Amino acid sequence: MEPVLQLEHISKSFPGVRALSDVQFEMRPGEVHALLGENGAGKSTLIKIISGVYQPDSGVMRVGGQERRFENPREAQSAGIATIYQELSLYPELTVAENIFMGHAPKGRLGALSWGEMRRRSREILDSLNIHDMDVGRKVGTMSVGNRQRVEIAKALSLDARILIMDEPTAALTESDVERLFSIVRLLRERGVGIVYISHRLQEVFDLTDRVTVLRDGQYVGTKDVRDVTESDLITMMVGRTIDELFPKLKADIGETVLEVRDLQRQPSTLGVSFQLRRGEILGLAGLVGSGRSELAQVIFGFTPADSGEIKVRGKTVAIRHPGDAMNLGIAYVPEDRGQQGLVRPMRVRENVSMAVLKELSRATFIQRRSERNLALKTVEQLRVRTAGIEQIVGRLSGGNQQKVVIGKWLAAKPAILIMDEPTRGIDVGAKSEIHRLMSELAQQGMAVLMISSELPEVLGMSDRILVMREGKIAAEFSREEATQEKLAAAMMSTVPANGSANGVVKGPT
Ligand SMILES: Nc1ncnc2c1ncn2[C@@H]1O[C@H](COP(=O)(O)OP(=O)(O)OP(=O)(O)O)[C@@H](O)[C@H]1O
Ligand SMILES: [Mg+2]
Repeated sequence: MEPVLQLEHISKSFPGVRALSDVQFEMRPGEVHALLGENGAGKSTLIKIISGVYQPDSGVMRVGGQERRFENPREAQSAGIATIYQELSLYPELTVAENIFMGHAPKGRLGALSWGEMRRRSREILDSLNIHDMDVGRKVGTMSVGNRQRVEIAKALSLDARILIMDEPTAALTESDVERLFSIVRLLRERGVGIVYISHRLQEVFDLTDRVTVLRDGQYVGTKDVRDVTESDLITMMVGRTIDELFPKLKADIGETVLEVRDLQRQPSTLGVSFQLRRGEILGLAGLVGSGRSELAQVIFGFTPADSGEIKVRGKTVAIRHPGDAMNLGIAYVPEDRGQQGLVRPMRVRENVSMAVLKELSRATFIQRRSERNLALKTVEQLRVRTAGIEQIVGRLSGGNQQKVVIGKWLAAKPAILIMDEPTRGIDVGAKSEIHRLMSELAQQGMAVLMISSELPEVLGMSDRILVMREGKIAAEFSREEATQEKLAAAMMSTVPANGSANGVVKGPT
């Protein structure tokens, strides 16, 4: 079958970085093609070339057999290429229908926008995707991430896309949204749309895709039928070595309680939460997206201070009214949305890494300079941050590498209490096991960690104890030994009563 898309000998450099070097990529109609590689391997750069955001320094691209070069995204769109970036690009103030037809609305007789026609056609497109429960008159800003993503897909289809590119589409979705996304992707595949799919979750590659192309350090490694490869084959292709132990949890001595939270309330998402966190302990916090986990973290850290309830640090009742209070008490927080809350994007890698430890480093300027450099160099090496150097501006790094810098910054600060929200989302397999190792070592040295994660294998692999949150409350607690994927999932959904169960496995709040 003739490929719908073909790229050969593609190279692209940015100042100080060779992002792509002699890369090839080919897609057949009706195939889902995974694009894999470590953070900074060049995946986003490649799809930005396909979608007209960047132009290659050299190489050829053919669309439907014809050589093409897109000067801007609009040209790629008219050639039938639609892209869904990780940061969704909808207008929150506009309705579903308006967003779908933004920039190409059907015209009425007098040339004005035909609202009725727009709504009718939006309904048609959504129905064709089996999305029957969405009101096309609703404002997009009020909808969940999963729904907004469905609007993006509908928008791509309203443009008659033959090629659909998705850059880490499942990163912020709930499990049921992921299922719905997969069924939409399969539907599109049956209609002959070719789909480029980027993800760091290898399981998705096996569940959804037909072929896989791997990049490493901007170079083409190979293309395989998914049926012919195992997970460890893919890891070896991506990382260039094998990784045996993905979650190397170390045994730690669990000590006294360092953080205690009692009946913490903050409307509308924190509705009476109590728990204890001990020295050396990694406490996993599981739950569906929207169950209130991130909100709880933000209450404890003082972004959105509690309305009522009690927080005790090392046995003393404390008042945390803003993040500065929390930091003074030795609490650090790695937010889920690291792009916005965790980094100063126009600043250098070195400056970002040392920001959280500046006090310690500020003794004398020349010492400060040297330790700052050393710290940055160590972080870059440990977490395998792909950067032109520690003087690189953080905003220029690939998505995953920005995340590594935020995490490195907080791990370097060695706080007594560390709250991490989705610590390895968007992070490649190699760095993921490195982050888990660091987390585990720091716990062994006495740090107390509260780890929010939607990835059950990560929760099960890393936690000494697991809390499950549901609708703003702690719904269940499990020890490391008794927890299983099934039990956690059951407690996350409401298939088990929120307060204890007959078999004694699911406990009420502590
Ligand atoms: N606009 C830019 N200016 C400078 N360097 C850039 C720019 N865009 C990308 N790079 C560099 O090019 C390399 C490839 O980045 P790219 O975003 O393609 O990686 P990726 O494979 O998508 O990684 P991730 O999994 O982290 O999203 C990285 O080293 C990155 O720092
Ligand atoms: Mg990327």
